[in-house]
Amino acid sequence: MKEVKIVSKRFDIEGINHIKKAIEHGAYSTIHKMFDKDPKTIVDEIDKSGLRGKGGGGAPTGAKWKLMLQDFKLPKVLVINCDENEPGTFKDRQIISKDPHLLIEGIILTSYAIGANDVYIYIRGEYHQWQNILQKACDEAYLQGYLGKNILGSKYRVDITICKGAGAYICGEKSALLESLEGKRGHPRLKPHQKEPEWYFGRPTLVNNVETIATVPFIVENGADAYKEYGTSKSPGSMLFAMSGHINNPGVYEAEFGTSMMEYIEYYGGGIKGGNLKGVIPGGASTPILNATEVAKAKLDYESIKELGSSLGTGGMIVMNDSVNMVEALKNLLEFYHHESCGQCTPCREGTAWVDEIVESMLRYSASYNSIEQLLQIGQTMNGKTICVFAPAVSGVIDGFVKKFRSEFEEYLRGVCNE
Ligand SMILES: Cc1cc2nc3c(=O)[nH]c(=O)nc-3n(C[C@H](O)[C@H](O)[C@H](O)COP(=O)(O)O)c2cc1C
Ligand code: SF4
Repeated sequence: MKEVKIVSKRFDIEGINHIKKAIEHGAYSTIHKMFDKDPKTIVDEIDKSGLRGKGGGGAPTGAKWKLMLQDFKLPKVLVINCDENEPGTFKDRQIISKDPHLLIEGIILTSYAIGANDVYIYIRGEYHQWQNILQKACDEAYLQGYLGKNILGSKYRVDITICKGAGAYICGEKSALLESLEGKRGHPRLKPHQKEPEWYFGRPTLVNNVETIATVPFIVENGADAYKEYGTSKSPGSMLFAMSGHINNPGVYEAEFGTSMMEYIEYYGGGIKGGNLKGVIPGGASTPILNATEVAKAKLDYESIKELGSSLGTGGMIVMNDSVNMVEALKNLLEFYHHESCGQCTPCREGTAWVDEIVESMLRYSASYNSIEQLLQIGQTMNGKTICVFAPAVSGVIDGFVKKFRSEFEEYLRGVCNE
């Protein structure tokens, strides 16, 4: 298997969190050459690289950055999404703990490219350890002149403020995140009809995931073509894939897009633990589960996983062996969504409660004979009728479990119908 080290290139170096060590190993080298470049050339290079957002949606990064180049006559803002609340996803914290200066370097390049001076890193409230690492790294970067006024003697200023979330999953959704940053309840906003930037206190704002920004220094240093040497034509480059669950060697490992899922699991994960493979949730808990037959065909890129009816999402794989009770596994997820629905949309607020209750009643052998159909129908009602994609994602999760492991759901109903 071809090993790739674009974002993880310094992960194994002892003491790399300290700026001196990081600089010795090449950190901030792009910043010294940054002012020789026109900001627009950096945006064009990112666009040409085909870099796609690593926060779950896989949106083309260059297109988002280009929206920021308009003459807004208002200060622009960069927001880094480090909410990382999605179950099964733990790659952003890996970047922060193993190479925080790579993220800061990416932030400086991105700010310069889009013309922003103020950066907010929105970090998950529970990530105390990583908040401290990041703050220390930022303090060091200020002392070394990479952050603050007059970066490296230039007229350019970048200031980073670290803001802690309060533990709501929905605050990872970019518009809810901005509401939360503005001090309001974390409710997703209605989406505009046309492409436009996000807005933070009325200022044009770019929101990108930690890993997306940590990939920027490689592209600026080596060029778009170097990035495109990895991956597939539609999913160029690499990603930090995370593996948890029934795996011998769980963790986060970088791989190029297009890598076979099974090969990845065998090579980095050391194979399935304690039984045979039953299924894999491929991209964080909100993506539909793949059964073992599908996993055998799956490749780690956006298009291949979509063809299998799921989504690459954040690349956080939850691996399950044949000891897993799929009704219990779905209940576990539905409890989470029930708790985390922000409550703005009726189909989501009520729907997440109903589906949770139905699966709970199945597990107690007290569900009605048609509860499988009810589950699927409520899922349909949650799809395409809400402000954000939280509810449609829950609908996809239900569909995946019920349609692929239907017999397990039927077992709970057999002989115990009470209608
Ligand atoms: C319910 C929900 C939760 C999300 N959580 C996160 C998150 O924790 N981190 C993240 O980077 N993106 C998350 N996203 C995606 C963001 O809305 C947004 O697309 C992303 O931060 C953009 O950055 P990118 O283009 O670099 O991926 C979430 C989206 C939804 C709908
Ligand atoms: S779909 Fe759910 S989480 Fe998203 S805005 Fe509506 S109620 Fe909130």
